[in-house]
Amino acid sequence: MPDDNKADHIKSGPPSASDIRQLKRAQRKLLSEIVQKQHSQALCQNLTKQGIYKNSKNIACYLANDGEIDPYLIIEHARFSCKKVYLPVLSPLQNSLYFAPYQPGSRLILNRFSIPEPQCHPSKWVSAQHLDLLLLPLVAFDPLGNRLGMGGGFYDRTLAYLKHRQHWKKPVLAGLAHEIQKTARLNTQSWDIPLNFIITEKQLYTI
Ligand SMILES: Nc1ncnc2c1ncn2[C@@H]1O[C@H](COP(=O)(O)OP(=O)(O)O)[C@@H](O)[C@H]1O
Ligand SMILES: [Mg+2]
Repeated sequence: MPDDNKADHIKSGPPSASDIRQLKRAQRKLLSEIVQKQHSQALCQNLTKQGIYKNSKNIACYLANDGEIDPYLIIEHARFSCKKVYLPVLSPLQNSLYFAPYQPGSRLILNRFSIPEPQCHPSKWVSAQHLDLLLLPLVAFDPLGNRLGMGGGFYDRTLAYLKHRQHWKKPVLAGLAHEIQKTARLNTQSWDIPLNFIITEKQLYTI
C-alpha cells in the first residue's frame, strides 16, 4: 500500500456500517442479469438439499430488490414441495414485520417503502414465531453470522424476542447472499440478531 493510502486508512479507521452498505450495494448492483440468474440457481441447489429446509413446513422468503440474490426458484421449489411460503409485510402500527401467505401470482400491493407485499387480510398474517425457517435478505455478512441490512432494523426489531430465549428458538434464521457480500468482520450493535446460517451461490456457512 503506498504510504499516502496507509496514512488515510489510519486516520479514518475501519469502514463504518454505512460505508460497507454503500460498497456492497454498489457491488451487487453491478452483477449482470446472467450472473444473477446463475447465482439464483446455485443458491436454490445449496439450500434445498439441506435438512433444515427439507424439515421446514412454514418458510418466509422475500422478493428480490436492489441487486439482492433472487430466491424465486426457492419459492417455486417450496410451493412444489407443499410447503407454506410467506412474505414479510410491514406492521401498520410498529416498525416490525408480520408474514403473509404467498403463492406466485398472488396479488401484490406496494407498502410505504414501495416494496411489494401480498395483498391479504391481516387476519391471515402470522408472526415470526409461527415460521420454521426465515430466509432473510442482507447487504453484508461476516462468517460469525452477523448481518448488515439496509439500515431500517426491521428484522432486528421483529426478532428481538430471540435474545431472551434459551430453548424453542423459532424460526431458524438463514441469510441469503451473493458471496461478494461477505466481509471479514462486522461491528455489531446490542440490538442486532445474528443468523444461524448464511447461504450463497458458493457455499453454506453454519454458525
Ligand atoms: N429491537 C429493537 N428495538 C428498537 N429499535 C431497534 C431494534 N432493533 C433495531 N432498532 C433500530 O433500528 C435501527 C437500524 O438498525 P440496524 O441494525 O442499523 O439496521 P439493519 O439491521 O437494517 O442493518 C437502529 O438504529 C436501532 O435504533
Ligand atoms: Mg441490524
